[in-house]
Amino acid sequence: MKKVSIIGAGNVGSTLAFTLIDLNVDIVLVDIDKDKTNAMALDISEASTLGNYVNIKLSSDYEDIKNSDIVVVTAGIPRRPGMSRDDLLLKNAGIVSSVTKNIKEHAPKSIIIVVSNPLDAMVYTALKVSGFDTSKVMGMAGILDSARMNYFVRQELPNAKDVKSVVLGGHGDSMVPIISKCTVDGRSLDEVLDSDIISKVVSSTQNGGKQIVELLKTGSAYYAPAKSVSLMVESILLDQNKVLPVAIYLNEYKSVSGVLVKLGKNGISEEIKLDLTPSEKQGFDHSISKVTELIEVLQRDFFGKD
Ligand code: APR
Repeated sequence: MKKVSIIGAGNVGSTLAFTLIDLNVDIVLVDIDKDKTNAMALDISEASTLGNYVNIKLSSDYEDIKNSDIVVVTAGIPRRPGMSRDDLLLKNAGIVSSVTKNIKEHAPKSIIIVVSNPLDAMVYTALKVSGFDTSKVMGMAGILDSARMNYFVRQELPNAKDVKSVVLGGHGDSMVPIISKCTVDGRSLDEVLDSDIISKVVSSTQNGGKQIVELLKTGSAYYAPAKSVSLMVESILLDQNKVLPVAIYLNEYKSVSGVLVKLGKNGISEEIKLDLTPSEKQGFDHSISKVTELIEVLQRDFFGKD
């Protein structure tokens, strides 16, 4: 049986485990908070007896992630109101780095999907600490950002049947909705919405995470993030080779950013290079430069001190 380990059994990690129960995989949850993890593992395993029974293993021992096909890293502290994703940088780099050392030791053949924020910098951290091939270390962000954009487009066009949004770039305020590639029922977005409405949709998408943080007050979003990771897990485990926006290391930029890729059993098999308009390309380059600034801080204040 395929095996997925989830490091960090908080809101995103436990919701992800719940989302995966029908996939018929072994699931291991690892967290430093044993009681909470135990509660989550019991609750989800009990729920699974009503469908496809999964005995979710709770663990605080990384031995148990042995032979995982995929390890999802959600460990970290979430954003609080008023806190940007970037404020989390050094704190979560420490957590992701220690988790990745354990993945490297106990599940050296796994594919790593990072969810912890600030996302792109944490993908870089996991890549650097693991030394895994760049096709095997990736981050979930673009699927979530695209889902948020789908939602805000649907708010404007309630009768739309098929909304496909594409959001690339870094997972932060500089994310780049690729308007020229967004479609509604097969027509391009700018044919069906006025430019001022598109600007409103873009701004709502860029603030989608913050909106939920401010309403929740005690954490950040988890249903849409967990569902987004589950699409990646399925595409890998079932070798679906779906084309999805995923954060990966880009050699030509020496940085990490969200791009469209094909995702299958060996991880990223191909990057799909889109033809961007000049302003989209400018937005994409700007977004990467923001991630690169964070990576430079990590190089100086985190890896420099290692
Ligand atoms: N090892 C294992 N688990 C850890 C560690 C660690 N070193 N440090 C923290 N954790 C666990 C916490 O105990 C907690 O259960 O990570 C979990 C994080 O869960 P939540 O606080 O509920 O956060 P969540 O909403 O799940 O978000 C997790 O994903 O979307 C991002 O910004 C978000 O970085 C955050 C991450």
